[in-house]
Amino acid sequence: MKKMMKVLLTIGVVLGLFASVKPAEAQKTLANIQEAGELVVGTSADFPPFEWVVLDGSEAQVVGIDADLAQLIADEIGVELVIEDTSFDGLIPSVSSGRVDMVLAGMTYSEERAEQVDFSEVYYETNSKFVVPVGEEGNFESIEDFANLKIGVQKGTIQESLLNDVLPDAELVSMNKNGDLIEALKSKRVDAVLMDGIVVGEFVNLNSDAIVLLDGIQVEEENEGFAAVTAKGNTELMEAINKVIADVTESEQMEEIVTKNTELNAEQTEE
Ligand code: ARG
Repeated sequence: MKKMMKVLLTIGVVLGLFASVKPAEAQKTLANIQEAGELVVGTSADFPPFEWVVLDGSEAQVVGIDADLAQLIADEIGVELVIEDTSFDGLIPSVSSGRVDMVLAGMTYSEERAEQVDFSEVYYETNSKFVVPVGEEGNFESIEDFANLKIGVQKGTIQESLLNDVLPDAELVSMNKNGDLIEALKSKRVDAVLMDGIVVGEFVNLNSDAIVLLDGIQVEEENEGFAAVTAKGNTELMEAINKVIADVTESEQMEEIVTKNTELNAEQTEE
């Protein structure tokens, strides 16, 4: 009897091991991706300088820091890159169902998300920042000053859940596209917008006559930083991603990619 138990236990452990390392049915392993010859990366291209859309003739093309990182990862794996632009709140379902192989979208690590998908090492750190219409900045000294206001956030972001936690009485206006949030702020349909600092900084630079960044107001105790995302258990793909992230973050390359894309975004909007 004892022996039987032991055998059953061993079978159980072995099965359990398989279950935990074997990627979910629909998703592609590194070998599948290489066979297919393309890496499909999901993003939400409304987030300069990480991802935005430029027109190349009549064709829309996604460019930015994440697009450059995605290209490096595709090169590392030895396949073509395909970028899928969808709404931000659809990205986690997309990657966990295998519709895309991975996500690069300035996505911040959170415990809640980590229950559904796997996160890579962090490739960029930033903090959430408020932006308000020019002339209003004098009304805000601390987070409490936003308590009963209308605040714009992107749907499905950590900013949305952060505000639900820290400002339960504020009226959140959730939108799919960051550009629409900025337009809503410019026309004062919302009182403030909360976004990742580096990105909202870009929007402010391009709209400095209308909106202003509140740099001094801290909203979160700690921000976990941006990371790439795969479906759970896609170990070899994640290793390739982490190798590229280590290469760029441990050299000057990451800074070069950031500078290049910040300049590109500024140039484009001048035209
Ligand atoms: N960092 C925030 C989050 O993970 C916002 C990311 C928004 N990204 C985008 N491509 N629109 O929730």
